[in-house]
Amino acid sequence: MGIHFGVDYYPEHWDKDRWETDAKLMQEMGVQVVRMAEFSWFKMEPKKGEFHFEWLEEAVALLDSYGIKTVLGTPTAAPPAWIIEENPEILPIDMQGRVRHFGGRHHDCQSNSAYREHIRRFVTAMSQRFAENPGVIGWQIDNELGNSHGDLCMCNSCKKRYQEWLEKKYGNIEMLNEAWGTAFWSQGYNSFSQIGTPLITAVGENPSAMLDWKCFCSDLIVDFAKWQADIIRENCPNHFITHNYMCFDNKVNYYDLGELLDFVSNDIYPAGNWQKQPHQPDYEMASCQDVVRGYKKQPYWVMEQQAGIAGWGTMGRAVDPGQMSAWAMQSVAHGADCVVFFRWRACAMGTEQYWHGILGHSGRPGRTYEEAKKLIHTFTPHMDEMQGSMPAPEVAIVHSFRQNYALDIQPNHPDLHYVEELQIYYRGFYEKKIPVDFVQGMDDLSGYKLVVAPLQYLMNPELEQHYMDYVAQGGHLVLTMRTGVKDEHNLCMIDRELPGKLGDICGIEVADYDCLFEKEGSVLFGKNEYPVEKWADIITLKGAKAIGEYGTSFYKGTPAITENGYEKGKVWYVGTEPSKELVSDLTEYLAKECELTKLGSAPEGVEMMTRENAGQCWLFVINHTEEEKVYHLYGNYKMLEGEKQDFLKPYEVQLFVRNKYGRTN
Ligand code: GAL
Ligand code: ZN
Repeated sequence: MGIHFGVDYYPEHWDKDRWETDAKLMQEMGVQVVRMAEFSWFKMEPKKGEFHFEWLEEAVALLDSYGIKTVLGTPTAAPPAWIIEENPEILPIDMQGRVRHFGGRHHDCQSNSAYREHIRRFVTAMSQRFAENPGVIGWQIDNELGNSHGDLCMCNSCKKRYQEWLEKKYGNIEMLNEAWGTAFWSQGYNSFSQIGTPLITAVGENPSAMLDWKCFCSDLIVDFAKWQADIIRENCPNHFITHNYMCFDNKVNYYDLGELLDFVSNDIYPAGNWQKQPHQPDYEMASCQDVVRGYKKQPYWVMEQQAGIAGWGTMGRAVDPGQMSAWAMQSVAHGADCVVFFRWRACAMGTEQYWHGILGHSGRPGRTYEEAKKLIHTFTPHMDEMQGSMPAPEVAIVHSFRQNYALDIQPNHPDLHYVEELQIYYRGFYEKKIPVDFVQGMDDLSGYKLVVAPLQYLMNPELEQHYMDYVAQGGHLVLTMRTGVKDEHNLCMIDRELPGKLGDICGIEVADYDCLFEKEGSVLFGKNEYPVEKWADIITLKGAKAIGEYGTSFYKGTPAITENGYEKGKVWYVGTEPSKELVSDLTEYLAKECELTKLGSAPEGVEMMTRENAGQCWLFVINHTEEEKVYHLYGNYKMLEGEKQDFLKPYEVQLFVRNKYGRTN
């Protein structure tokens, strides 16, 4: 039997005599796994070299006696005060040059060698101690690497490492000067030793330097994680190693980090207290699941799934009855094999006192507990069967951390956000019940009927060729505005019109454009006129046909969306940011052109998603709203869970199955 549901547990926050009550309640709820200890360094090593793992061993053993296994977190996101006292240079430096002090978490420089030594000592001791423990099955390294490290760390240790990284990349300083375009504003360097971390300047920054800096920071975090992974692998060859990601967060390249891990985990807070809306729209949540699955192209865990009101100083919205179940099953529908709820019980102390869990402060089982129990008992047997199965989308959207970095550095339009742009296209497919994978541009694209590659801003000859080959061999490709603008060093490409060589497969040229800064534009597509935003490429046809035209400004009547046959394939180019309605109609058009399979039809707020293995295909239908909904499936499935096919109660999750040869089981 696999492990499918769990909770994040902090026994150290509670009297020991409560632990057994917790274990019993967890067992009744159906919990099979807990994650523990990822912030408990002081409790495990109150003084240098004085290890106290007994309390944790006791908790692990107690839970194990109730049939609950443990994932241990290494507590390296919270070095205790005595470490900081011994080596204050571990504290990170922000862009203003200020020290970030002890008292929160993530107060560590990840290149600092003294800190690495503390980690080596501690992680060696911890992993040796738990290697043979029958209750322990795996490890989470650190916690949400990159979280809170937004403008960290600018210290001298990081500076030195950055210089070494640059020297390794460029070989000599002339190459760097060229790649960074340092002729501008007298930024030339005589040697790598003159290059600093990006501390706050009087004004402006070098976009090429910033791109390298972001890539360096990502590499540093991967290296930091590897430092621990190597120790754990050596001491605990039978345990898995994972890490809790944060969806599209981009401080570390999650594809690179994934190479160290047995599988990826993710944290999901759709109704976080920081959000401007009651909760994330379901298409956005779904896109997070799909990108997480894409980081390692395999099933994953959710290591923290929101279970109650989120809150630090202020709080987010209550989670409606049934809503947590809908979130949890959305994760499963997109490829999660295990969902761990954050947290078991709301705690009485510290920054996160108002971050609610399965149990409230009272510790008494209430509506959330009952809901989780019902969910777990209903779906665990099915999840045993579908373990290891994967969605098999016909559509891929290209995702890249480098593109994201470059557009964070220079967004082009003040409101242009890379991930949001991907989600604009994603939504079109999601609403049409057409599943999507996220892939990297250089991945093998040949298995997809359609590849959408928004904002291919940084371009290099290999990627260009890869897209051209995909199309030549019969692929369907969508490219958009701001494609082929820059080279891999984040310098503007010259001596050709946009979108560069890809203009050949698009059959267009873009010699001029308009940043739709304080105004909207419009596009005529089919019989309708739609608003568009942010950008308008002014397109000259070089063999393509226009399928959409601008309706405003001096380029009114000129092509906005084009279509071009190239060898065996087809390429569409969208020169603007389409509105929700335009994306919807464009998706419909593309679905017909590429013969994409829709799982069914349903109104907004109703999700459909499948996972399959060699023999079976499971279909989830999820109502993310508080209203009843009607839907229709295009296919013959047998209902496994749910009240009535075609109808959904608020937040209802229905599960269907069919065998892969089309017949109902
Ligand atoms: C996550 C983090 C947890 C906890 C939770 C609630 O980002 O991994 O440790 O802090 O948020 O704030
Ligand atoms: Zn540092």
